[in-house]
Amino acid sequence: MNVFITGGTSGIGLALAEYYINNGHKVGVCGRDISKINAALIEAQLQAYQLDVYTKTDLQSALNNFCQGEHLDLLIASAGHYYNELSNGPDYEECTNMLKVNMIGMINAFEAARACMHRNKKGHLVSIASVSSLLDYPKATVYTKSKRANVQMCDAYRTALAPFGIWVTAVMPGYVDTLKLRSLNNNDLSKKMFLLSCHEAVAIITNAIEKKKDVIIFPPKMKYLMTFLSVLPKWLLSLIMSKQKQHACRQQ
Ligand SMILES: NC(=O)c1ccc[n+]([C@@H]2O[C@H](COP(=O)([O-])OP(=O)(O)OC[C@H]3O[C@@H](n4cnc5c(N)ncnc54)[C@H](OP(=O)(O)O)[C@@H]3O)[C@@H](O)[C@H]2O)c1
Repeated sequence: MNVFITGGTSGIGLALAEYYINNGHKVGVCGRDISKINAALIEAQLQAYQLDVYTKTDLQSALNNFCQGEHLDLLIASAGHYYNELSNGPDYEECTNMLKVNMIGMINAFEAARACMHRNKKGHLVSIASVSSLLDYPKATVYTKSKRANVQMCDAYRTALAPFGIWVTAVMPGYVDTLKLRSLNNNDLSKKMFLLSCHEAVAIITNAIEKKKDVIIFPPKMKYLMTFLSVLPKWLLSLIMSKQKQHACRQQ
């Protein structure tokens, strides 16, 4: 397969790139800083493109260069940006960056990729959203709202692209142990419920992709907890989430 991953310079995206390269596939990744990728992977033929997913023309050029006229089988949009305005206060730059990377970056990736898939009438688009997007309540963060939009956009693209043989999967992970999650939590993930290693997350994501699932929510315990919370009245959910936030802030 020809596989391209946005946000493949670290974390979940890089772990997915390693998985596909180790399984004999041709893999390309992009990010703003490709120097983060270890040399062994580049030697193993990983093709890395330094770009910002907000610039669609750069993304399209990278994909054209990667495919060299061949078919693109799989695109995984993993590029993401996180900032918690509830803990840190609102910040214009951080919030617009979340919308640019998490929402426009995903659409740019899907649009650039489908241009490389249409002519063969097959392909698979995947977005790494978040389990937090299951919760629709007024006090949710901009991050959660942007990830909720990812899932909604996957639904829309799935319907629109089905006649062209293109599948769309929305991936909704719970906590995954990445350097980014650690840096956001002072390197202490002991309070993160149902935490998975990157390796475990990759096994679940790649299995869902292979089975062409529409949506994958994991780990199961997190899925059940979020599903339960999501049926509560919004006022009660807001109250529970505020208490949980205050508790988390006291622990820091
Ligand atoms: N870790 C978790 O617990 C968790 C849970 C649920 C969902 N997720 C989602 O999973 C995805 C990966 O998260 P992660 O924890 O693996 O974090 P990460 O290591 O920070 O990965 C984010 C990736 O996005 C890239 N990126 C960010 N802004 C970009 C931009 N403007 N243009 C191009 N690339 C950009 C980063 O590369 P550069 O810095 O090189 O640009 C990096 O490769 C994110 O979408 C996140 O929301 C993570």
